[in-house]
Amino acid sequence: MTLVIHIDPNRDNTQNYKIITEKLRSGGTVVIPTETVYGLGAHALDPQAVKKIFSAKGRPVDNPLIVHISDTKMLAPLVDSVSSDAQKLIDAFWPGPLTIIFKRHKNVPAEVTCGLDTIAIRMPAHPIANQIIKISGVPIAAPSANLSGRPSPTSAQHVITDLDGKVDIIVDGGDSEVGLESTVIDLSDEIPLLLRPGGVSKEKIEKVLGFEIGSELPTVDNPRSPGMKYRHYAPDTMLVLLTGQDENTIRKKLLAEYIQLANEGKRVAVIASLEMSNEIRDEVVAEIMDGEDIHIVGTRRNLKTLGSCLFGLLRDLDIQGYDAILIGACPEKGIGVAIMNRLRKASTRII
Ligand code: TXA
Ligand code: MG
Repeated sequence: MTLVIHIDPNRDNTQNYKIITEKLRSGGTVVIPTETVYGLGAHALDPQAVKKIFSAKGRPVDNPLIVHISDTKMLAPLVDSVSSDAQKLIDAFWPGPLTIIFKRHKNVPAEVTCGLDTIAIRMPAHPIANQIIKISGVPIAAPSANLSGRPSPTSAQHVITDLDGKVDIIVDGGDSEVGLESTVIDLSDEIPLLLRPGGVSKEKIEKVLGFEIGSELPTVDNPRSPGMKYRHYAPDTMLVLLTGQDENTIRKKLLAEYIQLANEGKRVAVIASLEMSNEIRDEVVAEIMDGEDIHIVGTRRNLKTLGSCLFGLLRDLDIQGYDAILIGACPEKGIGVAIMNRLRKASTRII
């Protein structure tokens, strides 16, 4: 049985926090809300507890976990050392959506890092996550709280869909604000590398460090971030990503693809920005497209809304019985880099 606990910030949650943190301290699994996505947490220094995370998610056993802390004082027993570059990023971005990879402390169980000599650490900004870690007084290992391969959960309902009956407690703290997973930067080696784009952009990191960083999309042979080699974030429905140099090209491709699929008798959903949807409406809606199948998410000039809604929308459309979902590429700036990274991984086809 999974217990769902709602945390209402306007109430006294002492008793709730007591139940949650006792479960964590005693080796149970608790899903916690964070500002990026929901995380499936367990006591990071308890190997048996950590193993439960892998089996609940169906996670490949070579994919290491991020350890969450609430205070930089918790770093010492987890890492070998904190470099001056790491300290700069900690000062600038913690708490927040940035995960830093360090050389690990020898006492960290191999279950957390999958035997690697490095460890991923993040300090979430979400007040509920922060309280839970602080009161438990232990570091919390937590991957995204989805079944492996599915889009990361940005609401408690998404988690319930994937993990009800598979974890001890789900903490409902409302919708995740960022909606995409944290940026992962590897500082364990001499050359810093961006392993996953996310809530903190590469430009912002480079500004703080004072030099440019490389990014690596890990290969199957030599993955510095093992998780990135798996197909990810994917809805069951066919997802088609339309790309192009400019908005006009993308819109034309999207319409052509829509018409072709519709002619084949397929039911097609379109995810479009405000600007694009107006143009699409003008061109064809009256003739062929059912207005209800166009889902408008934010504008191309401000991609925050698309970032926070994307995974939820993919999940929603998935259960509405569409044959295909079409989405146009967005500009690869700021959070747009992370959005495009997730879309490429989630797509069945890229045109
Ligand atoms: O926003 C987030 O990061 C969320 C919330 C819950 O904090 N967590 C999350 O965890 O997205 P997960 O497990 O879904 O993604 C962690 C990524 C994976 O790609 C994993 O391979 C990589 O971080 N990773 C973890 N430890 C690593 C290590 N020691 N070296 C390289 N990559 C590592
Ligand atoms: Mg994940």
